[in-house]
Amino acid sequence: MFIRNAWYVAAWADEISDLPLARRICNEPVVLYRDWQSRPAALLDMCCHRGAPLHLGKVVEEGLQCGYHGLIFDHSGACVQVPGQDRIVERTRVRGFPVVEQDGFIWIWMGDPAKADPAKAIDFLNTAALYGRANPAVLYVRGMAYEQAGRYAEAQQDIEKALSFKSRGPDLIYAVAQLELARVLQKEGDVPKARVAYQNFLADWKNADPDVPLLHEAKAEYAKLQ
Ligand code: FES
Repeated sequence: MFIRNAWYVAAWADEISDLPLARRICNEPVVLYRDWQSRPAALLDMCCHRGAPLHLGKVVEEGLQCGYHGLIFDHSGACVQVPGQDRIVERTRVRGFPVVEQDGFIWIWMGDPAKADPAKAIDFLNTAALYGRANPAVLYVRGMAYEQAGRYAEAQQDIEKALSFKSRGPDLIYAVAQLELARVLQKEGDVPKARVAYQNFLADWKNADPDVPLLHEAKAEYAKLQ
């Protein structure tokens, strides 16, 4: 039994390319790929025609093409092309999953797509935030939800609060919160403070493996602020 209405990390962002990647998430076969616009997408890894695994197909301009009989599905899972046929029956589709690329990860929502909504996440996390002192990750996640909803001042407040517990000891959540704070400050237009937040993140990660995608992203974003 899995909690489905939640965001899960499906992959590192740099694992996803135009070569379809098979993953099992919440015990479901999922295929992840980037379309021609470089947007990440996730579909059920099972063609609705004869059940072929879609990760054995290929990415084409219109979407992901099944390797068996050539049906093409767009990133929502709708069938957009059937070889040798002009008419496409509307119900010809595979299940598509909402995905978001953030912090060097591809996040996937395995539950009801209608519930993949940052505003609802904020409502839900308002209760959980009461326990933010015991677990700063709750504040960080609500900060991210505020950020997704474009409520940057509240995002900044939550992330700074999460970071205020940093003296308790090292934790990955503080490092990623530091980077997210830099991004939020940048979105708010406060470039000097964003610069300092990036510097703090890079100082915290000075001994990290240089190939970590999150570090690459942070360096590139910081360089643009110079
Ligand atoms: S099984 Fe995919 S097109 Fe036939």
